[in-house]
Amino acid sequence: MVQINRFLSVLSVAAVGLALSVKRDAATIESDIATISSQVTTLDTAIDSFPSTGGTLLQALTIHTDATNLVTTLDKAVTDVEATSTLSETDGRTILSDVEAIEPTILDALTNIVVKQPAFAALPVGGIPALILVDLQNLNASTVAFSSALISISPADLVAEATQLTANITAAFATAIAAYS
Ligand SMILES: *[C@@H]1O[C@H](CO)[C@@H](O)[C@H](O)[C@H]1NC(C)=O
Ligand SMILES: *[C@@H]1O[C@H](CO)[C@@H](O)[C@H](O)[C@H]1NC(C)=O
Repeated sequence: MVQINRFLSVLSVAAVGLALSVKRDAATIESDIATISSQVTTLDTAIDSFPSTGGTLLQALTIHTDATNLVTTLDKAVTDVEATSTLSETDGRTILSDVEAIEPTILDALTNIVVKQPAFAALPVGGIPALILVDLQNLNASTVAFSSALISISPADLVAEATQLTANITAAFATAIAAYS
């Protein structure tokens, strides 16, 4: 028994060592951003499709699910970025461009969620605007965490542009969160 315990503890130390040594790279981050991009599009489409009158609870809950999925991916991306060393100029540029390509869709989703607020409030089942507020707060927090992590591994000459991009997106989140608060 003692030997088995010893064996198990050697195994778990080895497993921890392995987990700590798993490095991520630019390709992992680019793959995360591809998933983020597709989930942002799904969310934006669901918001756009929600009608000004006569929307259903199912449609509203789909938006909630889409937002939750996006938060999960953003949080995985934060973990991956934190396990990546400072990016090369080429990788940094590619990743910043990838994120900039998603920016108009994020801004469109945030503009439309504000426009649709009365339609969510008019649903017979109450509490949907409160649910959306929590989704927006979680999305904002995860987006800011992802941006900050990316900025921390960006080559120095890309930091100003990445910071401006983050400022644009967080301003739109602030407007959307205010509309639901
Ligand atoms: C941020 O928004 C400003 C004003 O809309 C725009 O001119 C600029 O290109 C945006 N910057 C980035 C990095 O997206
Ligand atoms: C967005 O998230 C950041 C980081 O958690 C936070 O500092 C900021 O206050 C949030 N914005 C809003 C409008 O809640």
